[in-house]
Amino acid sequence: MGKVVLVSSGKGGTGKTMFSVNIGAMLSNYGFKVMLIDMDIGMRNMDLYLGMENKVVYNVMDVLSGMCRIKKAMIKVDGFDNLYFMSASPRRDDRDITALHMEVLCSKLGKYFDYIVIDAPAGIGDLFDAALAPADKAVIVTEPEMASIRDADVTERYLRDKGIKDISLIVNKVKVDLMRSGLIPSLPVMAEIFQGDIVGIIQEDDNIHISTNQGLPIICKKGTYIEENFKEILVRLFADS
Ligand SMILES: Nc1ncnc2c1ncn2[C@@H]1O[C@H](COP(=O)(O)OP(=O)(O)O)[C@@H](O)[C@H]1O
Ligand SMILES: [Mg+2]
Repeated sequence: MGKVVLVSSGKGGTGKTMFSVNIGAMLSNYGFKVMLIDMDIGMRNMDLYLGMENKVVYNVMDVLSGMCRIKKAMIKVDGFDNLYFMSASPRRDDRDITALHMEVLCSKLGKYFDYIVIDAPAGIGDLFDAALAPADKAVIVTEPEMASIRDADVTERYLRDKGIKDISLIVNKVKVDLMRSGLIPSLPVMAEIFQGDIVGIIQEDDNIHISTNQGLPIICKKGTYIEENFKEILVRLFADS
């Protein structure tokens, strides 16, 4: 049965989708069969980050409403043997999704995929409740700034209340100089706030920004420090599985 990983944040724009597509791409490069699900209904952009925006015909809502079979909404990502994704609906009002819907969908997908990565919407609400329901583990992506950390903290407590025990933190968009000079919260300060472990730090880097705009996961560029960093994060995240 495939493992279901929720990628969440609290605050918007912290890098959930960037992280989801890269972790998915790396797992698939290691030979695992991976399904990415974009649950940011109404504000989807996973298709863009994968360079697959022209291939989306059916989306996850079409599956859940019974409009189409799962297979029709599964899109194989160009350039990868084992990476698939399901797009969110572009319509903001298309939110009639329950926890049960997501559990049934993931239990069906789990027969064929080793990992299912759910890119959650920002904030907490009905849609987030549905997105988190099938998760075996959660990753919270935060930025090293107080508003983002507070929202990540609220999200972590919320996920624990919902019964998710395996929660890891990623600190993204880190400006090393600012952190060294103490102008933004340091790792020890953040580690005090969260119950889960901080399993990775990703620097703010224009190359990451450019890659999301070009629709090619940054880990596809071989031999960079970013690829190495993602490899290490992957080991820490999935060491037990
Ligand atoms: N480490 C990083 N360095 C530079 N830009 C980043 C980094 N991580 C994400 N971004 C950029 O930040 C923006 C928001 O990222 P995104 O993954 O869409 O966030 P979310 O899904 O949490 O809303 C995008 O423009 C993305 O390219
Ligand atoms: Mg997103």
